[in-house]
Amino acid sequence: LDNGLMRTPPMGWLAWERFRCDIDCDNDPMNCISERLFTDMADWLVKDGWRDLGYVYVNIDDCWSSMERDKQGRLQADPKRFPSGIHKLARYMHDRGLKLGIYGDMGTLTCGGYPGTPLDKIELDAQTFADWEVDMLKYDGCYSNSSEQEKGYPLMSKALNATGRPIGYSCSWPAYQGGLPPKVNYTQLGEICNLWRNYGDIQDSWDSVLAIADWFFANQDTLAPAAGPGRWNDPDMLVVGDFGLSTDQSRSQMALWAIMAAPLFMSNDLRFISNDARAILQNKVVIAINQDPMGVQGRRIVKEKNGIEVFLRPLSNKASALVFFSRRNDMPYRYQTSLKKLNYTAGSYKLFEVYTNRATLLKDSTDFVVSVNPTGVVMFYVSAPADTNLRHFHSDGKL
Ligand code: DGJ
Repeated sequence: LDNGLMRTPPMGWLAWERFRCDIDCDNDPMNCISERLFTDMADWLVKDGWRDLGYVYVNIDDCWSSMERDKQGRLQADPKRFPSGIHKLARYMHDRGLKLGIYGDMGTLTCGGYPGTPLDKIELDAQTFADWEVDMLKYDGCYSNSSEQEKGYPLMSKALNATGRPIGYSCSWPAYQGGLPPKVNYTQLGEICNLWRNYGDIQDSWDSVLAIADWFFANQDTLAPAAGPGRWNDPDMLVVGDFGLSTDQSRSQMALWAIMAAPLFMSNDLRFISNDARAILQNKVVIAINQDPMGVQGRRIVKEKNGIEVFLRPLSNKASALVFFSRRNDMPYRYQTSLKKLNYTAGSYKLFEVYTNRATLLKDSTDFVVSVNPTGVVMFYVSAPADTNLRHFHSDGKL
C-alpha cells in the first residue's frame, strides 16, 4: 500500500502469541490484557534499547474492548482493564517515540468473541481509531465469509485513508483464504494493505516455526514477488524469548524472518527476557538485513537431501544475505560448498558471520565448509571486499 508507511518491514511488539486473551486482571495482573501490560512493554522497549533499533510499534491484539459499543455506537476499551482509554495509551507511546497498534475484525465478532467491525461499521471504527491517534490496525477475519471479506478489506483501506491519519494496515484476509492464488490476489493486496498474514497462527514451538517457514519457502515463487516497500508478507510473530525455542532455533527464526523481509513483531515478555534471546533479537546486522531498503524478499536456493538448506536475499549495494540451515537432529553438519555453486560470479567477496562476528575473504571458486548445528543456522552478510559497509558492523577484524 502506497501510504508512505512501512517502506521497510515494520518492527515492534505484539501481544497475542505470548499473552493471548488473558483478561483475568484480578488474579493475574502482570499478564492480563490491560493498559499496564502495554505501558510496561513500552517502558522496556525504551529502557532496553529496542526502540532505538527500530522496534517502535506496541500493538494490542484481541480482547481489548468492552463487550458493548458505547451510546454513539463506537468501540470502546474495556473500562476496567483500560481505565485511561486507548487515546491516552496512544499518547503514552507517542511521548516515548513509539507507535500504538490496535486490532479489529472484519466479521460480526473478533475471534475471541468481542465486537467486530463488519461492513456497516467500517467507516465509524476507522474514524474512531484515527480519533484515538492509533498508528496501525491489524484487521482479523473471524466470523465473516469470503464475499464479505472481498468487500471489507478494501473498504477498510479506503476508510483509513479517508481519515487523513497515516495508519499502517495489516490484513489477515489471505490467511482466511488459504494464502494462495487463485483465491488470493497478491497484486490487489499490495495495493490495499501494508502487510498481510498469509498463513496460520504461530505457536511457541519449533514445530510451528518450522511449519510456517516451510510453507513460505515452498510457495516463494508466488509470495516473494508480492513483497516490496510498503507491502509485506507476514509469517507471524517472533517467538524468540519465550519458552519453546532453543538458542539455535531462536537464531534460525530470526535469520529466516530476515531473509523473508518479514515484519518483526516480537511476542514475548520484555520484562523477563534472557540475555541470549535479547542478543539475537537485537543483532544489528540481522536487523539491517531485514530492513534492507531495496525490500526484496529472499528465497531458498538449495534444498539438499542431507537436510541442509541454503537461503539467499539480495540486498542493496550489491550485497546479499546467505543462510545455511540444518533440519538435522544428530550433530553439527559440515556442509561444503563454494560461492560459485551458489551462483556468485563476481570474483571475491567478504563474508561476515552475523552471530559470531567473524569476517572472511573468499574467492567465488574456493570451497569452504560451514558447520551448521541441528535446527540451527549459519548466517552471512556477503559484500564485495571493497565495500566499506562492513565497518558499521564491528567485525573483530579477522580476515
Ligand atoms: C487469529 C489471528 O491470526 C491471531 O494472530 C490473533 O489475532 C487471534 N485471531 C486473536 O483472536
